Amino acid sequence: MFEGKHVTLTISGSVAAYKAATLARSLQRAGATVRVVLTAAAARFVTPATFAALTKQPVLTDTTWWHDDGQIAHVELADWTDLAIAAPASANLMAQFANGLANDVASATWLATAAPKVVVPAMNSHMWQAAATQRNRQRLLDDGVTVLQPATGALAEGYAGTGRFPEPADIVRQLEQLELFTPQTLRGKSVIVTAGGTRERLDPVRFLTNDSSGKMGYAVAAAAQAAGATVTLITAPTRLTPPAGVTVVPIQSTAELAEAVLTRFPQADALVMAAAVADFQPLTAADQKIKKTKDNDELILKLKKTPDILAEVAKVKRTNQVTVGFAAETQNLLANAQRKLQSKSLDLLAANDVSRADIGFNSDDNQVTFIQADGSRDQTPKTSKQMIATALVARLAAILETK
Ligand code: CTP
Repeated sequence: MFEGKHVTLTISGSVAAYKAATLARSLQRAGATVRVVLTAAAARFVTPATFAALTKQPVLTDTTWWHDDGQIAHVELADWTDLAIAAPASANLMAQFANGLANDVASATWLATAAPKVVVPAMNSHMWQAAATQRNRQRLLDDGVTVLQPATGALAEGYAGTGRFPEPADIVRQLEQLELFTPQTLRGKSVIVTAGGTRERLDPVRFLTNDSSGKMGYAVAAAAQAAGATVTLITAPTRLTPPAGVTVVPIQSTAELAEAVLTRFPQADALVMAAAVADFQPLTAADQKIKKTKDNDELILKLKKTPDILAEVAKVKRTNQVTVGFAAETQNLLANAQRKLQSKSLDLLAANDVSRADIGFNSDDNQVTFIQADGSRDQTPKTSKQMIATALVARLAAILETK
């Protein structure tokens, strides 16, 4: 797994810092090239010379950080990195990372790194259990960082507790079990993803929309990008932050979404329509705010059908392009989904039961049945939208291979 990979090992001030030498050796034996960053506190426990000799690479410390040779050392290292591991990570280092600080070489390098990140905490058990540390741990998890569990046992303080640095062999074993490196199955491919619920204007201050949070589409955009694709995310308004590096095209109405998709689709290899598209829009949008009057106890809205974007796309789709849809159903899930797959000429469709409160609209989790044009079907377990997105991207890449 580590063969040919560039691993940056950040070491912070902890009695366990000496064990990081064994960890660096184990990673090298597993095939990685390792470069080390020492915090100022770590440099009081272990020396840069140890790690320079072990790794045959220069070690970055606060004193060697800035040179006058024009090199921005922490950014160069961050860009070089395929995997960043902070081990041992002290409570202070976790707090720096969780808060996005860049006030020393370790935190600046970490912040500049776009590669997958793993934190291996090591600290006194009370420091580990402190509310602030647990809050920082949760923040790191929310940011997509993997945080390993510290070991339980004798601490340097002379009593037992949770906070021990795990044995280096254990750390390597745990790392190998995580799927840290995403296979670049979409490298060189251009993928359009739509997300969120469209808004159809009634008047300047009101619109019709639906419960979509955009989470599924954003997760697909992130997964496609992680797999090496160039991603355009066409998104209705959501509360989410788009994944860094994707091209974002904001839209509101179905008409705007249709226009954004249809102008870009000819240049794309694949389209994933995760947007929850309004099927109807007001016949006319009022120019001024609709007022209530004495006479209008009832207000009748006249709606007209919106364009079916996937059906429009189907008309211009080339044989080497892949289209993926979602089917949001509250009944007859598979029969309706199968019909949509065919009527919209899709290669892949993710069918989900939106009548369940624990999955689908607005939830962090989902469970879908993937239906493919070749008739194959498979159901995912109930899992995070990120996992569903990764599964969808794997299928998308496999279909593109056959085109
Ligand atoms: N879709 C679309 N254009 C529309 C409506 C939906 O492209 N006007 C896309 C959605 O983004 C989704 C797929 O079609 O990928 C299925 O959407 P869904 O709302 O489940 O189905 P509908 O086509 O709207 O059919 P129905 O109203 O019968 O459920």
